[in-house]
Amino acid sequence: MNKLNQSITLNNGAVIPNRIVMAPMTSKGSLWDGTVGKEDMEFFSRRSETAGLLITGATAVSKLGENFSYQMSIYEDRFIPGLAKLAEQMKRHGNKALVQIYHSGANSKVAYEKHGMVVAPSAVDFPHLPYEVTELTNEGIWEIIKDFGRATKRVIDAGFDGVEIHGAYKHIIQQFFSTYSNKRNDYWGGTLEKRMNFALEVINEVKETVKKHAKKDFIIGYRLTEDEMHKDSVGYDIHDTLQLIDKISDTKIDYIHVTSNRFGKQIKEVINNRTAFIFVPQDVTPYAAEEGLQYGDMVSLARAALIEPDFAKKIKEGKEAEVATKITSTEMARSLHWPIKMAEWLLDPNGRNAVPEGIEYFKNLD
Ligand SMILES: Cc1cc2nc3c(=O)[nH]c(=O)nc-3n(C[C@H](O)[C@H](O)[C@H](O)COP(=O)(O)O)c2cc1C
Repeated sequence: MNKLNQSITLNNGAVIPNRIVMAPMTSKGSLWDGTVGKEDMEFFSRRSETAGLLITGATAVSKLGENFSYQMSIYEDRFIPGLAKLAEQMKRHGNKALVQIYHSGANSKVAYEKHGMVVAPSAVDFPHLPYEVTELTNEGIWEIIKDFGRATKRVIDAGFDGVEIHGAYKHIIQQFFSTYSNKRNDYWGGTLEKRMNFALEVINEVKETVKKHAKKDFIIGYRLTEDEMHKDSVGYDIHDTLQLIDKISDTKIDYIHVTSNRFGKQIKEVINNRTAFIFVPQDVTPYAAEEGLQYGDMVSLARAALIEPDFAKKIKEGKEAEVATKITSTEMARSLHWPIKMAEWLLDPNGRNAVPEGIEYFKNLD
């Protein structure tokens, strides 16, 4: 596992002690109002040695941007004290900790529940949503871009090492990039180039904020989903994405992070070492992680981090044979410090599909 243990220096000079990234996971251990909760604190604290680069779950930059219940928010200063304690816990073993910042646009289901309103690039009648969305004005769009900047300032004030801009999984940045959800004919839509503008303006705002308020080695990453297919139409395909990746690579942010193990070779070629590439092996073993480094400069792990909080620590100590790859007992389930609502979410047959093996042991926990 020599390669996984090598450190890496990012564009801004930040040094990550190894090639392992804990993927962002909404862990549902925070309070209904978005304040960091005790269960999330324990979940992330227990994972301070999972990876060299640790990323929180999606954290809303605007009041109207919340998709999931009981996740963390960062849209007001009152969230900073809780986040500062979280940063301290995540960083206590010398690994880097980032906040994933996002706005869910049309998919802000929790914002709808709390405030009765949801905003989106276009007023599309989405069949999967039980409410109508309100089309953003040009001013409203710039306000959300500024929210990404204001959130970044709070991440800096809380003492984290960086931000990951969440441009994946059909949240607002992806909604602007997709022809399925963006029907605009202004600066923000109409052509592929214009559908990239929201993503690029968010990156620019975050960069400007970092330049003004953070140390030089504050990390800026960007996550995207490789393509978006619908039953009868294509939101965007990998060729569109490769053009976006080319533009983002030119901004010289510190990394680009994808969401699946598809297209690794093409993406690596387009990035061409302009920024670091975080590949997603979609597996839970150290061997798959190491293999993923043929494409990525780093590899990110979600389910592996749920099952084995000491993933990077064990690899560093040469104990890769001891890395757990499934949950094998009720006792082990209890030791993993999963917030209860996340366990319930993963146990729900209509919920997430990336379910860790052995999840049924959580059924026996009280
Ligand atoms: C419980 C859970 C919550 C997740 N929440 C997020 C999230 O907030 N943001 C994000 O970008 N991805 C999220 N993901 C996706 C993971 O980061 C990852 O891309 C995906 O699970 C595939 O990786 P894996 O095969 O290692 O699990 C989540 C995954 C899980 C299992």
